[in-house]
Amino acid sequence: MSQLQLPKSFNLVFFGGTGDLVTRKLLPGMYQCDRNGQLVRDGRIYCLGRQDLTQEMYLAKIEEKAREFIPKADWNDGVWSAFLSRLQYVRVDAGEPAQYAVLKEVLERNPAEVNVFFLSVAPSFFTTVCDNLARQGLSRANCRVVLEKPLGHDLASSNAITEAVGKHYRENQIYRIDHYLGKESVQNLMALRFGNALFEPLWRREWISNVQITIAEEVGIGSRGGFYEGTGALRDMVQNHLLQLLCFVAMEPPVSLDSNAIRDEKLKVLESLIPFTEEDVFKKTVRGQYRAGTSRGKPAVAYVEEAGIPADSKTETFVAIKAEIANWRWAGVPFYLFTGKRLPTRLAEIVINFRDVPHQIFPLAPGAAGAPAKLVIRLQPDEYIRLYLYAKQPGDTMELQPVYLDLNFAGAFKTNTRRAEGYERLLLDIIRGNQSLFVRQDELEQAWRWVEPILNTWAADPAGPKLYAAGTWGPAASAELLSRDGFCWHDED
Ligand code: NDP
Ligand code: BG6
Repeated sequence: MSQLQLPKSFNLVFFGGTGDLVTRKLLPGMYQCDRNGQLVRDGRIYCLGRQDLTQEMYLAKIEEKAREFIPKADWNDGVWSAFLSRLQYVRVDAGEPAQYAVLKEVLERNPAEVNVFFLSVAPSFFTTVCDNLARQGLSRANCRVVLEKPLGHDLASSNAITEAVGKHYRENQIYRIDHYLGKESVQNLMALRFGNALFEPLWRREWISNVQITIAEEVGIGSRGGFYEGTGALRDMVQNHLLQLLCFVAMEPPVSLDSNAIRDEKLKVLESLIPFTEEDVFKKTVRGQYRAGTSRGKPAVAYVEEAGIPADSKTETFVAIKAEIANWRWAGVPFYLFTGKRLPTRLAEIVINFRDVPHQIFPLAPGAAGAPAKLVIRLQPDEYIRLYLYAKQPGDTMELQPVYLDLNFAGAFKTNTRRAEGYERLLLDIIRGNQSLFVRQDELEQAWRWVEPILNTWAADPAGPKLYAAGTWGPAASAELLSRDGFCWHDED
């Protein structure tokens, strides 16, 4: 997936260089790449913003943030100051066409093989920025544009962005980020499925009863109220991260690691998702919003009491969905998607539940009923694979108890203890020109097409989201979504 070499020189331009994403994730990510010796010497980083800052003021600002977000063990004064020598702050108002001349002039001083424009600004700027870059000739074949999610708020607005960006950049120049695809654990899912023959014969409707995909967050919305209120969990997490995980679980083996080979297979999964009617939305989805409760033993306010959120907000902070795929491999197998903020813990995992034996001859130990074989793929915070099986409980009965085979990646790969953050891998891939881990336009469109009926039905439903106490696992209705089908959510403990 990353066989391509880095070019000899590159210019990486961050629009939104003073913003949260750049200072908290992207610059620390680039520092880590530099520390690992993964950046070429002639690689420069330009951070753009409107603020009247000198170079010194900007560097001081990002250092303060970096010290907070780069683990102490990874901090090296020498590497940090060498990293800073790559950086330049450039004052540009993205909405002012004339100011792009400054950017062009700066870039011309360092003609590089590759120019990357990373648009870490609100999506409402995407069209303006691309138009203005193109006016300066900054859309040539050596230029790449990186778009952060959310890409629109529905199908029409997403298509409008596609059209506007597509006027100046070809698909092979456009990198749509879903940072989940940069996670080692998500790439490992491909390795598990397609690097081993073991699971393939079982990876189908004949042997799998249901699949559960969870991204749970302990945090609330923090200081992102302005963004979140207009977005909600369906657009923020399901339309992208959860559907991408579903694609990796359900896709057919790609013919190679070529970016289009992988994305072709993911697209087929998205196209096979059964669309929701209005009735389905009421039956197969649950939306929730956190009310006051406790988080890590401390009182946590309700969503509607967070900064910038109206008291009558109907924005969902929790979603559970029963999705189904209409194809030969998966017909009749429910894929339950689950995500929420202010849940008891932070975790992301995929649970593949295998069918039970057709006729059980063994008695089950108390509490062991309903726990047939399952494969648990924990993506974060720790990374492991557990295969649950029934085994005979020691003693003079034949009672069975679930036990698991455990593969913990931290222990398995002792030589490389630090697992790279998603953005590190993705930034390097953009510079290398490798699109495998980026979302193609047709995937994006299909994902919006599938979530849109849910968004529309919810918007028209006066009932609003069901409330759940902060620090709990969401509305009770999400458990009912599974129990109606005779299943229950996997609970590790
Ligand atoms: P912030 O609000 O923290 O930063 C916004 C940035 O936009 C600032 O650097 C600001 O610069 C810049 N900006 C605003 N107006 C202009 C303008 N007219 N010209 C030039 N720059 C401008 O946002 P985030 O960093 O949180 O998010 C950036 C993007 O990334 C958004 O699309 C967001 O949805 C997405 N995203 C963010 C995530 C996160 O964790 N933060 C996660 C996933 C996606 P200045 O004020 O200096 O001009
Ligand atoms: C982002 C969402 O895309 O993913 C955030 O906008 C969410 O709301 C975050 O908190 C979760 O990412 P991770 O990598 O911490 O699981």
